[in-house]
Amino acid sequence: MGMTPLKFLIAGLGFVVIFLTGFVLRRTGQPFPAGILTVHKLVTVATIAFLAKIVLGMTKLAPLGQVEWIACIAAGAFFLLAIASGGWLSAVREMPAMVRVLHLILPFLTALSTAAFLYLMFRRR
Ligand code: HEM
Repeated sequence: MGMTPLKFLIAGLGFVVIFLTGFVLRRTGQPFPAGILTVHKLVTVATIAFLAKIVLGMTKLAPLGQVEWIACIAAGAFFLLAIASGGWLSAVREMPAMVRVLHLILPFLTALSTAAFLYLMFRRR
């Protein structure tokens, strides 16, 4: 299955929920409300699963080109780093201030690289 506007929209909605719950978590601070944190984490996992399915579908249609792989790997790496910094934030009460900065910058890098990757997928559909 190729890339459709609906898939773009669903992935975008995933990011909107992740960012909105993230901003709520930042405002409330420790101890984080369990429900919001769970939604933040579950929607992260669901969005990654959805994106992975898109990647698999697109590679079946035609192998990814070099630039497309770079965008895909960058998005995956930023996602992993966002999860690592988020996990650290939620697990430890006293963490280096740098981790909070990281868990603000990395989500934006993740969103940008994912948008770039999906745009490339959209162009070749
Ligand atoms: C499952 C892994 C994750 C966990 C456990 C987690 C946990 C957290 C926590 C605890 C906060 C509150 C931070 C604070 O009080 O300073 C937060 C904020 C936030 N998270 Fe996550 N997060 C995860 C994954 C992600 C991902 C993958 C993204 C985006 C792609 C993301 C985007 C954000 C954003 C935008 C904020 C608000 C940051 C701010 O306002 O400065 N998170 N997250």
